[in-house]
Amino acid sequence: MVNNVIEAWYWIFLLAALVGVGVYYSLYSIRNLWAALKEQREEGQDTVSDEVIMTPYSRRIVIIHWLTVALLVVVWYLGDSLAGARGEKSATLAGYYAHVLAGGAVLVLTLLRWTFRNVDGVPPPAGNSLVDMMARGVHYGLYILLVLLSATGLMTALTSGVGPALLKANASLLPEKYTGPATVPHIAHEILMDVLIVVVIVHVLGAITHQFILKDGLMGRMSLRGKS
Ligand code: HEM
Ligand code: HEM
Repeated sequence: MVNNVIEAWYWIFLLAALVGVGVYYSLYSIRNLWAALKEQREEGQDTVSDEVIMTPYSRRIVIIHWLTVALLVVVWYLGDSLAGARGEKSATLAGYYAHVLAGGAVLVLTLLRWTFRNVDGVPPPAGNSLVDMMARGVHYGLYILLVLLSATGLMTALTSGVGPALLKANASLLPEKYTGPATVPHIAHEILMDVLIVVVIVHVLGAITHQFILKDGLMGRMSLRGKS
């Protein structure tokens, strides 16, 4: 009992530290972005040229973007099915392996994409209005959410019977409920998924606005068309 309480606090502190780093990094990025846009405004660049809008992401960033979108659909489906199957006591080791591997792949792709964006560079902001700034903030938010989702998933596995069950390939160790130290990471994992869905909807609505209302060709930035 005492051990469980200590472990629960340990995970709460770890999660708080992770969220703290995420919030700190977001504020830091927003401050930099704000300074860059202010500079642009002061230089009188109120409208953004077609050339800027058409500046593409590198080929490997585009490939990873669409691969991540496809993988996320699979990971989400597998996670939800697992939760349902566990409730009906029919969850299988194979389901857990698939979810953990696909989730881990999302993490690896996200870290790779972050590395590539620093190496290859990224196109300049599509404009300098408040909405464009928010769009940039949404991009940073997506990176942070994907890392936190994988981290809380890993914590859920390590603090419950899932980790031992997968390592020993023994389905009888799978948990019926997430209790004790696994409670916080499991709830955090669930909540982060809901937040991700909302942020992705905002991101996709932004892309649709550019494509069908502004018709400025911004979608071309995330396309392989014309890239050798
Ligand atoms: C971006 C990556 C990930 C996404 C989008 C994701 C999504 C989900 C979703 C939607 C659920 C169901 C939550 C519920 O309703 O209870 C879930 C459960 C879970 N996830 Fe993930 N996950 C990701 C990565 C991971 C990773 C990397 C691990 C482990 C290393 C992991 C381990 C788990 C575990 C153990 C559960 C509980 C399943 C159960 O109910 O027994 N997840 N995940
Ligand atoms: C059908 C769905 C989607 C469409 C149409 C779409 C479209 C786009 C476009 C056009 C950009 C470039 C925006 C710009 O340069 O201003 C972009 C960037 C981005 N997208 Fe998506 N996206 C979709 C889904 C997703 C999903 C599911 C995620 C991850 C959860 C995601 C994560 C990102 C990130 C992180 C960036 C910024 C890349 C960077 O600057 O490093 N997208 N997306």
